[in-house]
Amino acid sequence: MAMIANKCKGTIVSVVDLNADRIAAWNSGNLPVYEPGLDEIVSQNRGKNLFFSTDVDEKIREADIIFISVNTPTKDYGAGSGQAADLRFVESCARGIAKAGGGDKIVVEKSTVPVRTAQMVKEILDSANNGYSYQVISNPEFLAEGTAMADLENPDRVLIGGDTSEEGQVAVEKVVSIYANWVEKERIITTNLWSSELSKLTANAFLAQRISSINAISALCEASEADVDEVAKAIGTDSRIGPKFLKSSIGFGGSCFQKDVLNLCYLCRHFGLPEVAGYWEQVIQMNEYQKERFVTRLLDSMFNTVSGKRLAILGFAFKKDTNDARESPAISICRRLLEEKANLAIYDPRVSKSSILSTLGWSEEQAEGRIHFCSTAEEACDRANAIALLTEWDEFKELNYASIYANMQQPAILFDGRNLLNLKSLREIGFRAHGIGRD
Ligand code: UDX
Repeated sequence: MAMIANKCKGTIVSVVDLNADRIAAWNSGNLPVYEPGLDEIVSQNRGKNLFFSTDVDEKIREADIIFISVNTPTKDYGAGSGQAADLRFVESCARGIAKAGGGDKIVVEKSTVPVRTAQMVKEILDSANNGYSYQVISNPEFLAEGTAMADLENPDRVLIGGDTSEEGQVAVEKVVSIYANWVEKERIITTNLWSSELSKLTANAFLAQRISSINAISALCEASEADVDEVAKAIGTDSRIGPKFLKSSIGFGGSCFQKDVLNLCYLCRHFGLPEVAGYWEQVIQMNEYQKERFVTRLLDSMFNTVSGKRLAILGFAFKKDTNDARESPAISICRRLLEEKANLAIYDPRVSKSSILSTLGWSEEQAEGRIHFCSTAEEACDRANAIALLTEWDEFKELNYASIYANMQQPAILFDGRNLLNLKSLREIGFRAHGIGRD
């Protein structure tokens, strides 16, 4: 929304949330989300045509176009628990819009939703019977965290799906005209509602599937002395395959991939397609296997026990350049190491202590003596038996590993879960160094 405000100076953008603390943070100098470049765009436009407010009803009444941008987490109760998307926030937005009234509206689904959600939104809006007409549009978001501002400024494509009726097409064109302020027309794809909804889940499933595919090959590389980065380069130069999303790692994390693939599986089963669901379920299973394999290799190299040993955890975010730890592969790896009675010294340049504790499900009291929160990488590695590098932060490339090595317990072990470092130089220093899919 900040980018829309930045690119469409004649349009007023009001961002509303029920959570007053969040809105206060958006109105302060300390935004609640760390994203490179976001601070500048918000501060340049806030108070001009970009506003943050808790006046939900009033802003709904004033708006011509409303973007529903609430979270759609995996359901953790009742039917479809563990797989289906929890749509209660989308539903309550639709009800709120219907109740607030204020005129004809275009309602845009920005949240990632299962195919046919627009039907539910439409039914709720139409049942308001308030004399106003509503058009529902699907406009999924493809930005990735850490590169969000560049992705928004220069998107590969913008997808807008709408009803095929004449009114539906008028609404589609209205939403197209917003993006057309800075995105070339050829990159704005219009489809019917259901194709747009399904394309978002499909895009994330394909991306996640590429990571699971290269991670599956990484296990084979370790067994066969092939090097997964070399294999990725060799296959990625085939223009039909392409080079992106072939970086082998400890597994994908983040708030989208697992949730969306699980949701796709749920939908397939719902529509009576268990074989299709089973195919996509393997993407998640491979991701779990990759995390567990990392822990097993670490244990093996530490003589099968980490009990009472100090392990330095470098990075906790699910990827670099974000403070987001949701579904980070670091969570299950750290949980497993804690289960094995290791003591963890965690350092991440952006993820807060409270977010680490809450994602791990540990209280401050439980963490006492077991988890140390460090303010530098060097502090985390001090007297450690092993280092596990779990996020590919640039600063980890620049560390003085010789001096880190000198302050560690011997033999000093290093597991690079992101294939970020040069294993040969680490071995020259004296480390027992390991990567993913190369040894
Ligand atoms: C993803 C999609 O890319 C984006 O289009 C969608 O809108 C939201 O979900 P995001 O989760 O922010 O974006 O990050 P992304 O860059 O896709 O990375 C997801 C995870 O995959 C991270 O944990 C990352 O480390 C991992 N990853 C990515 C790999 O392990 N290897 C790769 O080659 C790429």
